[in-house]
Amino acid sequence: MIVLVHLVLLALVSWAAAAAAAAAPTPGRVQTSLNEGWKFARFTNNPDSLSYNTLKPWILPLANPFIVTGTKYPSPSGSAPGANVQQVQSSFNDNTWQEVDLPHDWAIAGPFGAPGISGGMGRLPTNGIGWYRKTLVATADDVSGTKSIFLDVDGAMSYAAVWLNGNLVGGWPWGYASWRLDLTRHLRAGNNTLAIRLESAVENSRWYPGAGIYRNLWLVKVDKTHVGQWGTQITTPQVSASSATVNLAVQVENLGNATREVEVTTRIYPVNNGTTAEAVATVKAATISVPAGEKRSVNGSVAVANPRLWGPPPSQTPNLYLAVTTLTSGGTVLDTYTTRFGIRSITYSPSQGLLINSQRVYVQGTCNHHDQGAIGAAYNHRATQRQLEILRDMGTNALRTSHNPPAPELLELADEMGFIVLDEAFDCWSVGKTTNDYHLLYPEWHEADLRAFVRRDRNHASVIAWSIGNEVANQEAALPAREATELQNIVHAEDPTRQVTSAMNAAAPEHALPAAVDIIGLNYQGEYGNYAAFRQKFPNKMIWGSETASCISSRGTYYFPVHSGNNNRWNTAGSSDANARYISAYEMANPGWGNSPDAVFLAQERFQPWVAGEFVWTGFDYIGEPTPWGGNGGSRSSYFGIVDLAGFPKDRFYIYQARWRPDKPMVHLLPHWTWPERVGQVTPIHVFSGADEVEVWINGASQGRKKKPGNGIYRFRWDEVKYAAGEVVAVGYKGGKEWGRDVKKTAGTAAALAVTVDRAVIDGDGKDLAYVRVEVVDDKGIIAPRANNTVTFSVAGPGKLVATDNGDPTDMTAFPSSSRKAFSGLALAIVKTEKGAKGQFTVTARADGLKQGQVVITAA
Ligand code: GAL
Repeated sequence: MIVLVHLVLLALVSWAAAAAAAAAPTPGRVQTSLNEGWKFARFTNNPDSLSYNTLKPWILPLANPFIVTGTKYPSPSGSAPGANVQQVQSSFNDNTWQEVDLPHDWAIAGPFGAPGISGGMGRLPTNGIGWYRKTLVATADDVSGTKSIFLDVDGAMSYAAVWLNGNLVGGWPWGYASWRLDLTRHLRAGNNTLAIRLESAVENSRWYPGAGIYRNLWLVKVDKTHVGQWGTQITTPQVSASSATVNLAVQVENLGNATREVEVTTRIYPVNNGTTAEAVATVKAATISVPAGEKRSVNGSVAVANPRLWGPPPSQTPNLYLAVTTLTSGGTVLDTYTTRFGIRSITYSPSQGLLINSQRVYVQGTCNHHDQGAIGAAYNHRATQRQLEILRDMGTNALRTSHNPPAPELLELADEMGFIVLDEAFDCWSVGKTTNDYHLLYPEWHEADLRAFVRRDRNHASVIAWSIGNEVANQEAALPAREATELQNIVHAEDPTRQVTSAMNAAAPEHALPAAVDIIGLNYQGEYGNYAAFRQKFPNKMIWGSETASCISSRGTYYFPVHSGNNNRWNTAGSSDANARYISAYEMANPGWGNSPDAVFLAQERFQPWVAGEFVWTGFDYIGEPTPWGGNGGSRSSYFGIVDLAGFPKDRFYIYQARWRPDKPMVHLLPHWTWPERVGQVTPIHVFSGADEVEVWINGASQGRKKKPGNGIYRFRWDEVKYAAGEVVAVGYKGGKEWGRDVKKTAGTAAALAVTVDRAVIDGDGKDLAYVRVEVVDDKGIIAPRANNTVTFSVAGPGKLVATDNGDPTDMTAFPSSSRKAFSGLALAIVKTEKGAKGQFTVTARADGLKQGQVVITAA
């Protein structure tokens, strides 16, 4: 018990830091990070004459453990290719290669304008062949014959192939997959050379895919008889306040050469109790016999009394449990395997939407791509956490991992913070959207990729539904319906507890595709009223807006005249400046297929309570897809985000907050009030608020008090007001009492830089990030909302600059640059420390003619 208590405590404290160093020293299993100390080189011409196609016969059999209905791949005869390639040799001199730590994104440093890379993919140099090399030190014990040594890759973009000491051990082509290789056979005591080759084509994505080994890499050492990869499956078929049934399947894998009898026991601990590490339930020990080279599963079930349920805030709490599975043989612990899970029920109600623990949860979701702005696709825990914190502040309770499996840590954060997740697999099936996208892999890999994805993610409490695809081609035809049926069957076989959707923008109720899937997920067409026709046709299916809005804007830019309706096209008068490539932040512009938030809210209201909610396209701006300026000479990053690429909320943030956090007193007025050229001209004031009534004053003169225009409307408009320098005040009322207010003042000449940081103390582990915000202000501290001064950052002390940004989709300055123009008055620097740093460092921001600003950050 002492060991277990210790283990559980270690597991608890180490969870959040799982991305970092060695995990808890669980008896029988050691998992260490392989992120540090790599050498890397990128080649735009093939340096080795290898290709996925020549390596494929040796890589395909890796899919076999994930093939149940399809035909497994035979092991090829003959020697594997690549053994004579210089990059895999221990003797190869990689001195000129770059030193990198993982996760690593080779393209994010730029420059923009990479040959062959479209605006859709973000104009950054993602293409080419990437080689990574590292020396792996093995102990005598590692190679004694009793251990299995695995390489676990959370994600490598893409077409990975791995050699150990010149031997091809395998790989995995899909860049969003997580996968495992068994290194044991080719491992030697002492130094080993691990070499990984990646290939990334042009036109392989509709958005910025990132490049390189962009997620964590792990080395797992465990007895040859162990819990298999993703080898536990936990379900909670019965949940009530007084008791829950926890079912557990444990798959034991025996890679030794003799049958092994093992005893399997699982204890269940509350995770966030903090006060006790006593198990609340124990799944009885079971003994199973596992033949050499095989896998066997053992099932157990246990009741947990008075369970602390998992559910999304604010109405519920995301309580978690830890299942600690121990394999023993003759009293010796062979393996200890931890599975974190939640106890909760999900109901997919056609009439009420989504219910969690029998309570309705209206889905207030956002879709997001995986990049983290200026630091790219390289997984960073703090960057992801910050995104989720900003989304949570807005009132988001749901995430759609568009359009691919996320980093595993995203789901850990979602579990902890209580986000519900629509976990999505694919953007296309057998018919592609770009020349080199997943359709090339689909025939040979879709079953393995989908099963692996579901096995990896199915124990996460946050995952409440699966999406097998996004806007696949030819939704009216028979083929996608057949493919959907196959894919959905795969998901059901791997996870009988959750429903499946496919996001449909073009399928109509009479087509076969919607009939094939559990949940009707509509992209955009629901906003046009199609929810009703689908409900009529499918009265037994839950319906939601799997993708909504696609409103486009650039933060802090406003154009006139302002459209009289609450929804218009980006290219109508006053909605954008096509030369500057900015779109009005009055937040009404759509690209032609989407809608303003206002229009989506009205459609949602119209179909309550049965429409389960929406996933807005998108929470954050992302690199690539800079619609409507994706062509030559266009922009670098999207305009769809509610929050810009730097993480600065656009005005739109507040219209969502008004709807999604109805209890938060909040009044937000726009535009800014610094328009020297508009004196006397009509300059409409819009206010986003959940108040019943709002009154606006300009320089003390009331512009009138207005009632909430209607149910589902959070935009109050004063369209006739004329600009005069000074001060605008908006006050919101509820029940006749002041509920919130906002003030905007005319700024004078830019005079100084005001610098703040999101966290004044960060971990000196070389990974944690501080986000430094710079405001260009006048001599009274008022933001100069149109300032675009060039800000230069410097760091003194044990910190270093990682990247800068401003949220401007047109800014082609490479992200690592220490100089960055402010955009609409704001700029951002992202800083961290060297590994192991302690003490204070100072980030200083300077701009010509302005008083500099600085902030002190402590590395702890
Ligand atoms: C959708 C698509 C998204 C994104 C969006 C832009 O149709 O599913 O991936 O392209 O359009 O509006």
